[in-house]
Amino acid sequence: MDQIHITGGSPLHGVIEVSGAKNSALPILAASLLGGGECIVDNVPQVRDLITMAKLLSLLGVDVQTEGARVRLEARNVQSVEAPYDLVKTMRASILALGPLLARLGEAKVSLPGGCAIGTRPVNLHLKGLAMMGAEVLVEHGYIHAKATRLKGARIDLDFPTVTGTENLIMAACLATGTTSLHNVAREPEIIDLCAFLAKRGAKILGAGTDTITIEGVSELHGAQHTVMPDRVEAGTFVMAGAITGGDIMVQGCLTDHLGAVFTKIQEMGVQLTERSDGVRVRRSAPLQAVEVKTLPYPGFPTDLQAQMMALMSVAEGTSIMTETIFEGRFQHVPEFHRMGASIEVDGHHAVVKGIPTLTGAQVMASDLRASAGLVLAGLAAEGETMISRVYHLDRGYERLEEKLGALGAQVARVRDVA
Ligand code: EPZ
Repeated sequence: MDQIHITGGSPLHGVIEVSGAKNSALPILAASLLGGGECIVDNVPQVRDLITMAKLLSLLGVDVQTEGARVRLEARNVQSVEAPYDLVKTMRASILALGPLLARLGEAKVSLPGGCAIGTRPVNLHLKGLAMMGAEVLVEHGYIHAKATRLKGARIDLDFPTVTGTENLIMAACLATGTTSLHNVAREPEIIDLCAFLAKRGAKILGAGTDTITIEGVSELHGAQHTVMPDRVEAGTFVMAGAITGGDIMVQGCLTDHLGAVFTKIQEMGVQLTERSDGVRVRRSAPLQAVEVKTLPYPGFPTDLQAQMMALMSVAEGTSIMTETIFEGRFQHVPEFHRMGASIEVDGHHAVVKGIPTLTGAQVMASDLRASAGLVLAGLAAEGETMISRVYHLDRGYERLEEKLGALGAQVARVRDVA
């Protein structure tokens, strides 16, 4: 397994480019299952999760051609209804095949996505919503087996604004008979991006980005072209890299609208953010100040930037508090931060972070995608060398990270696993 080696302490300078959003490209590619007609999706990030999604779609019978950041999909001949365990276990977002397959073919067999490092991550709300649309849903032998001759429009009130749950139900409702109204849905920008793509394909959707989405079912969808929005989590990670190293960088392609809650907190810490037409400039001339953060569904502070924010808190002046309300197990990075000298005490959903002047480099281990990004930020700021193992977690969601950071002057290298 590859490692990433970082020699910390260099302030970053220069321009860094944001790639397409992983968590928008995943549902958009899955939505190709909803009908034939060529779909051309541009600005798809070349990261492991999208390679896995392309593999799954090919397995289901979609003709998938990847040419760099452009993916062409033709789902005219989808015939398999099964998303197998050995693929789903490598990427939970495979659950996004459930809604479209069921709507298109009347049947779907998707392996239950297990929990992962950040929590149990049930999919009960996905299943409840599909059942309310008339599907017969059985969970046995580790598989979700859903059947429906034709899904019917329904009113569905979600107990929690689940992101992929919202996406699954929107996609299923596109081909249902009648109208579906979804309430208490996720409002993330990725939902808006997915709905924009579906509308180009002929779907009838109102309310994307609000807490209520109404979908009028149609008989079929046609092909379309779509360019995936920039990745707000990658952008936020880069902004924090500029903040933690005290440099002066330009994060190109970052949409301030998508990161309001994050920018407010980073500015509260004493970082100067200057919005430009094509991105945001990040500078810091004084020590970081402590801050209190609570993760919430969008537009609140995103849980996917929680670990990265804790790296900043670790070297801020004063005591910060991080409250994680979305996932019950999302403090796996804390023991690794401890190895770098951070002073953090976790108590349930809260982490109290006493800032110290500087972290020290150490051997650390990535546990999940965003925790590994937090470790990279800590390594950039730490004194000495940090070696991060299990970077396959990082490769799931960050495209050429060491190259992009290296271009800003970071001393970061990937050490290929010789074993
Ligand atoms: C999406 O996961 C993202 N993944 C996650 O990003 C992100 O952290 C998460 O949303 C929250 O923003 C993709 O979009 C592919 P949820 P998702 O359903 O949809 C509970 C990354 O690093 N819940 O919104 O799986 C659940 O347990 C990944 O890119 C139920 O109880 O998250 C959790 O506590 C990590 N029942 C909360 O809701 C359900 O049926 C949020 O989960 C569904 C969810």
